[in-house]
Amino acid sequence: MHRLISLARLKRAGITAILLALVVSPAWTQGRAQVSSPAPQGPWMNKNLPPDQRADMVVEQMTLDEKIQLVHGGPGGFGAPGAPAQPTRSNGGAGWIPGIPRLGIPDINMADSAVGVTRGAAMSRYSTLLPSTLGAAASWDLKAAYLYGTVIGRELRDQGYNMSIGGGVDITREPRNGRNFEYDGEDPILAGTMVGQIEKAIQDQHIMGDIKHYALNDQETGRNIGNAILDKRSMRESDLLAFEIGLRDSQAAGFMCSYNKINGDWACENDYTLNQVLKKAFGFKGWVMSDWGGTHSTVKAALAGLDQEMPGSGFFGDALKKAIESGEVPVARLNDMVHRILRSMFAVGVIDDPPVRQVVDVFKGLEDAQSIAAETLVLLKNANNQLPLSGAGVKSIAVIGSHADVGTLSGGGSAQVNAPGGNAVKPAPGAAAGQGMGMGREAVYFPDSPLKAIRAKAPKAKVEYNAGTDPAAAAALAKSSEIAIVFVNQPTSEGRDVATLALPDNQDALVSAVAGANPRTIVVLETGGPVTMPWSANVNGILAAWYPGIRGAEAIADVLFGDVNPSAKLPVTFAKGDQDLPHPEIPGIKLVPPPPPPGAGRGGAGRGMMPPFDVPYTEGLKVGYKWYDAEKKEPLFPFGFGLSYTTYSYSGLKATAAGRNLTVSFTVKNTGKRAGAEVAQVYAALPAGAGEPPKRLIGWERVQLGPGESKTVNLTIDPLYLSIFNVDRDAWELMPGDYTVMVGASSRSLPLNQAVKIAGT
Ligand code: BGC
Repeated sequence: MHRLISLARLKRAGITAILLALVVSPAWTQGRAQVSSPAPQGPWMNKNLPPDQRADMVVEQMTLDEKIQLVHGGPGGFGAPGAPAQPTRSNGGAGWIPGIPRLGIPDINMADSAVGVTRGAAMSRYSTLLPSTLGAAASWDLKAAYLYGTVIGRELRDQGYNMSIGGGVDITREPRNGRNFEYDGEDPILAGTMVGQIEKAIQDQHIMGDIKHYALNDQETGRNIGNAILDKRSMRESDLLAFEIGLRDSQAAGFMCSYNKINGDWACENDYTLNQVLKKAFGFKGWVMSDWGGTHSTVKAALAGLDQEMPGSGFFGDALKKAIESGEVPVARLNDMVHRILRSMFAVGVIDDPPVRQVVDVFKGLEDAQSIAAETLVLLKNANNQLPLSGAGVKSIAVIGSHADVGTLSGGGSAQVNAPGGNAVKPAPGAAAGQGMGMGREAVYFPDSPLKAIRAKAPKAKVEYNAGTDPAAAAALAKSSEIAIVFVNQPTSEGRDVATLALPDNQDALVSAVAGANPRTIVVLETGGPVTMPWSANVNGILAAWYPGIRGAEAIADVLFGDVNPSAKLPVTFAKGDQDLPHPEIPGIKLVPPPPPPGAGRGGAGRGMMPPFDVPYTEGLKVGYKWYDAEKKEPLFPFGFGLSYTTYSYSGLKATAAGRNLTVSFTVKNTGKRAGAEVAQVYAALPAGAGEPPKRLIGWERVQLGPGESKTVNLTIDPLYLSIFNVDRDAWELMPGDYTVMVGASSRSLPLNQAVKIAGT
């Protein structure tokens, strides 16, 4: 109507000729696609109506076939040899759900985007590789996490996607899990808060977010067949709490159920975790999609709460249609699935503000990646204050190992971002080529050279590189140099775990040889998660860089030379050895067959090749530092630990309880000569009868302080963070009794403590 009026007016104005020229011009048809195919103007397009109402209006218009079409993905296309060709309307990401054009419902195009947007190579698209998500968690900085999500959301928009699949938040029960780099560490409150910020930021870009892998997909070994066993209380207070907080803080559109079983039922057909906990207790309004190939049934899955089968249609295509027609699955349930998808599209704004393709802002991405990386690097050791190095003062530096001449390592699997120009380290002849899924393939290095970044900081010094493959040769170079910086790596990937926390490829021997030759040795770790360091007493410096992202080399050099004062703290405990872990051996690891040949597809370790087995999480509530506290074990580096180039003091703790509310205030002072940021942490010991591990994290604040400056931190503690889960009542409970509040710089350095009585519920 609107258009007709304006056409008539234009005609009246006597510019018919110009108008005709515009109509036939390709620029016109391209720029105003809606002129030739008008967007439907059903009442659900009214932006002022609530998303649920809009969704209901659409559901009313839909045929049964259209509803079925929305609850499963179109053909996949994983970019692997022999994979099905991409459907033309797919944007080339991991998931594609055809929309309903006649109703104005766009396709859903999903891209894996845990650490940056993936699968660019096939389409010649560039995306920013961010530091590991675990690194983002190490920042303990909500703003850094928000920026992390902003970069991902922005680049998804620019590439024409409207949904992110990332948001991994399985807590670190298994520190050798191949996907820990995609997750947020061992504490549910820290992990949930960080993923909540990441997903919130993505959705603020009008891209639907998703949180995964729900739940207890804590190891890759036999992920398709393993049965995770855990009691309900531990689940709610640990693993599921991380998901609960992430959802609460982001209202993420999607939840991806995981491959494994949970207490006997597949995670994608688990009534307890999906219906009872996620939808009822957490109040989740979005939709549950299966991990790729993680659907196992039609009726059971539909009734247990699965809303979308990804990516195929084996269970939620014709089979679901039949189940609806026969009444085995009520139509109301199908309508609920569809409603959840549509209401999320309206709520996040992908219909009102669809993505518009443009070239990714590479420069902004690099800048953001570097500023995030600067907050992710954890300084674990700095004997004799050897760091920071003086760029002007140092005469010679030996840079050794881990391909530091050409690049930095990234994480493998579906989160693998494509390296610009391809892998900076060309695979050995005969090794599987390409950067596809990365699963079981070569480790991918990004072309960002630490050697160059170090040279730039010390332009007058002699900076030489040794590959580190021959420890004796590396030691010889270290001996003739003033400083030795050894880069070590632990490649990890989806689809497989590392069998041990020990560094692979003889790198411990390399570090020992170098440290033996030069006492001024600094080690930079590029790892998926915690590793052991039998040489830690013999080196002066240790910097945990995780996988540091496309600007990692610059960020590492900034910390080594003091342009950035490190502030990150460990989001995971570093154990002294595998024997100290709750499971010295990964359940099922001995059953893993040799790696599949390149191109064998996904499913990772296990599918169809291993007998089913249990993963009994007998440690229950004692995850991460809670295990070390309860078992009185000394870690190598504790949760929450990280050094700075300045020092801080803590004083004046005041914990006050009023009803259910606890407020905590204390003062942090920068007692050194450099500006810095301290992540001040608050822990609580629950009343004696609570049956809890000795303490849990209940809050923190990252405090920016100039030299000599003090600040008072005031925190209001969420009662949930002090509560326990009462399984009999199926409810959270704030126990009345005596709590101890502890404050300090790490889980093992808590100089302030105060007892406080809480009245409870
Ligand atoms: C992974 C998911 C991923 C999906 C799509 C699965 O193998 O477990 O994390 O989102 O593939 O690529």
